[in-house]
This record gives sequence, structure tokens and C-alpha cells, in this order.
Amino acid sequence: MTERSGFGDTSITGIDGAHGILTYRGYRIEDVAEHLGYEATASLLLGGTPPGKPGAPGVGSELRARRGLPENLERVIQALPPDMPPIDGFRTAVSAMGDVARVYPPTVNEALDLIARSPTLVARLHQRAVGSAPRDPDPHLGHVANYLWMLQGPRVAPERIRALERYFVLLADHGISASTFALRIVLSTRSDLASAASAALGTLKGPLHGGAPPEVLEMLDAVGSIDRVEDWVDRTLDQRGRLFGFGHPTYRVEDPRATLLRRYAKEVAAPARYALARRFEEIALDRLARRRPDQPLLTNVDFYGAVLLEGAGLPRELFTATFALARTAGWSAHALEQVAQNRVVRPPERYVGPPTRPWDGPAGNLGA
Ligand code: ACO
Repeated sequence: MTERSGFGDTSITGIDGAHGILTYRGYRIEDVAEHLGYEATASLLLGGTPPGKPGAPGVGSELRARRGLPENLERVIQALPPDMPPIDGFRTAVSAMGDVARVYPPTVNEALDLIARSPTLVARLHQRAVGSAPRDPDPHLGHVANYLWMLQGPRVAPERIRALERYFVLLADHGISASTFALRIVLSTRSDLASAASAALGTLKGPLHGGAPPEVLEMLDAVGSIDRVEDWVDRTLDQRGRLFGFGHPTYRVEDPRATLLRRYAKEVAAPARYALARRFEEIALDRLARRRPDQPLLTNVDFYGAVLLEGAGLPRELFTATFALARTAGWSAHALEQVAQNRVVRPPERYVGPPTRPWDGPAGNLGA
């Protein structure tokens, strides 16, 4: 960002938007999604070395051991209105997560607590909202399988677990996105991880970022059927509306995560939903290209991400919070990277107001 801070240097995730290449610690996202589950991906993001290689941190067992919620977090959950949207409850409770020491700098243990406890927190918030009994986390299950177990009980279809695991891996980090930027700004002032993570959650919540997936389904529901797609898309664009799940500030070609999610979503989506999504995508890409030939507005991660989340049996109220759960690994890695090279972040600004001028307002006599 500025010469002074060197802000923007990161060695976690590489994004080549011109060629559609995304890497975690130098490994292409296609290989990561093929070979690693979420715990191993978190390990890679945090430590820079894939699990199994010498020097790789043993993140999986650490995460499984840390899933329980401390008493103060349970009390915070009970104090929240049950109908509060899960992402808001999540953000509020995360502020209380720095229960031991709300101090700078964040430690690896605090980062692991954030990743491990968050699914328990979100599942508790959801169960409270729908009035069902909480299920304690199962330390024998992997991170994502355990999240689905807490939400859906013991009979979760393996294809749902596999699809959601892939979603978590693909969404685990994406460089200095808006929410990660917010997190890094907070830490740059030597504030604590709980404060930084709640800022990140507040930033992710917006519909132009992590709030987009539920909007994608609202959009598909509003369209209703394949024969209405063209008319709906044209009308929406005529009214200067946005098509959720399309466009990205970085990619000039298709985001490689969208390519993978199109495939993974098909494995769990209801066939009629998938067919509607495919037709919508086809028409949306055609119309966006015609209207904005100079600005590639392509399928982004949230379009098939939303279709996948629905296919995995998640209610749409949980979509944004689930996106955030996946991103806790990336946020943690960025938190540790930020404090290792910390300078206060301040964007370059340009004053565009009136030039300095002589006082020409009314004469005043303040305090008289
Ligand atoms: N549908 C229709 N028009 C669009 C879309 C879209 N999806 N995206 C951009 N535009 C139009 C805007 O209306 C704007 O038009 P204007 O110049 O006439 O006002 C123009 O393109 C430029 O828009 P910006 O918001 O400046 O473009 P940018 O590339 O910075 O925005 C963004 C990226 C915010 C993702 C945008 O494409 C968008 O709103 N997409 C829909 C929401 C969405 O899917 N968000 C998830 C993003 S991915 C993520 O966070 C993981």
C-alpha cells in the first residue's frame, strides 16, 4: 500500500488474476483441493509446510482438542437474542473470545482457539435460534465432519462432508481481501486478535463480500424456473441491479475456485437447482459481457459456493457464518504474518477539498 509500511507484502496466498492462478504457500489451489483436507490446509497456511513434511505443525490434533467453549463464551451466547442472525452472534461472541489475555501480539495458541472454537460457537447459535438441543463436538471427527455432526447429527451423507470440506479448503484464504485487510489494520495498532477477528467478521458480512452466498439463492428462488432466467436477468440489469456471484476486483479470467466449485456443487446439489444455476450462469455471463465488454464480470466463488452449501444441507442463514468459519484459517495466518512485520497501516490519501483559504465565515465569540 505505502512505501513506508511495505503493507501488502504477503507470503501466504498468491493471486494471479490475469491468468486465474491461485496458490497457498506456492501450491496451486487445484492441488491443495485435491490432496488436503481443511485441517491440513490450515496447517499449510499457518506453517508454510504441508503436513507430513519435516517441520510441518501438527494442527489437526490441536484443533480437535480445542473445540470446547469456555464458560464465558457460553454465557455470552445465552445473553444474545435467539433470533440474532448467526453472523452477528458470531461476531459478538468472538469479541469475548480473548478471554484469557486480550493483548498483543496474538499467539499461535490463540489462532488455533479461534479456528477450533468458531464452528462450535456457530452451531450453538444456530441450535439456540431453532430451539434444538446442542450437540457437543466430537473429537474423533475432522473439523468439517464435526461441524456437520453438530448441525445435522450422526447420519450425514459422506458426499456432503466431502463437498463441504472442499468448500472450506477453497475458501480458507484469499490474500488481503476486504475482511483480511480489516483484520490486519486492527492488529497493526497492536490491538488483540479478538478485536481484529470481530472487525474481519463485520467486514465479511456485507453482501458484496461474504454476505453474497445467501443472496445467490434468493436470486435463484426469485427466478424460479429455467424459462424465466433471460427475462429476470435482463430486467435486473436494466434496473442497474447486481447479479450476486459474478464479478471480482482481482480476476480478469475465471477464478479457479469457481471452476472447482462448479464441479463439486454438482455432486451434492438437487439436479433441478443445479440445472437452474447452470442456465442462470450462462445467461448472466452473456448479458454481463455484452453490457460491459471491457470489464470481465465472471462467475465468482460465491455462485456455486452457495449451490454447494445448500446441497450440503446448510440453511441459508448459516451461509455467511460458514464462509467465515472457512476463512478463520486464513485470518489466523494473516494475523501472525502481520505481527511479524508490523507497522501501523494507513492508506495513502488524497485531499480533494477546497484549497486553504482565508476565514470568511461569521465572526464568532466562542465561550463568551
Ligand atoms: N452484476 C451487475 N453489475 C455489476 C456486477 C454484477 N455482479 N459487478 C459489477 N457490476 C457493475 C457495477 O454495477 C458497476 O457499474 P457502474 O459503473 O455503472 O456503477 C461496475 O460494474 C463496477 O462495479 P464495482 O463494484 O466498482 O466493481 P468491482 O470489480 O470493484 O466489484 C464486486 C467487485 C463487488 C464483487 C462486484 O462485482 C459485485 O458487486 N458482485 C456481486 C456481489 C458478489 O458476488 N460479491 C462476492 C464477491 S467474491 C467474495 O467476496 C468472496
